Amino acid sequence: MSVLVAYYSRTDITKKVAEEIAGRLNADTEEIVSTVKYDGKIGYARAGKDAMTVKIIELGDLKYDPSDYDTVYLGVPVWAGKAANPVISYIKQNEGKFNNVKFFVTAGANGFESSFKQMEEFVGKAPLKTLAITTKEVKNGEFKEKLDSFLD
Ligand SMILES: Cc1cc2nc3c(=O)[nH]c(=O)nc-3n(C[C@H](O)[C@H](O)[C@H](O)COP(=O)(O)O)c2cc1C
Repeated sequence: MSVLVAYYSRTDITKKVAEEIAGRLNADTEEIVSTVKYDGKIGYARAGKDAMTVKIIELGDLKYDPSDYDTVYLGVPVWAGKAANPVISYIKQNEGKFNNVKFFVTAGANGFESSFKQMEEFVGKAPLKTLAITTKEVKNGEFKEKLDSFLD
């Protein structure tokens, strides 16, 4: 079964989960790159605003075509209770190209369910599975135990 792990990460939290998943499944990895700057303090404010308004942005070049894969794992941080808009932009850019999807979402504490719902709406199909992971669980490594059932 072919697997692609596609994710966006501003501060490397979602990236750690993506790399762990890709390593365990021997999957291809697509790091979604935003052409809009979301780093630093000003970037933080812009990120919150763009997530709230679901701003579709231009992305850096992509390496892989999601339609080539049986399952695409989509990884995203929560921004202002929504899925970070670079991932929404990725889904839009690849409309109709997803076979099976699974979502993994990282956040400080909340916004998981609303992000899953938003992702499902944009993909246009229900995910096989979803996984909510806190920033703390990534930092202390506890997220690794949660992956077993998610990857099945
Ligand atoms: C603009 C912005 C808004 C955020 N909003 C939320 C939020 O609504 N709820 C929450 O629990 N965490 C929120 N966070 C925290 C991130 O979801 C969390 O730190 C995430 O794990 C970061 O992942 P990353 O390092 O892959 O970017 C927000 C972070 C940013 C930058």
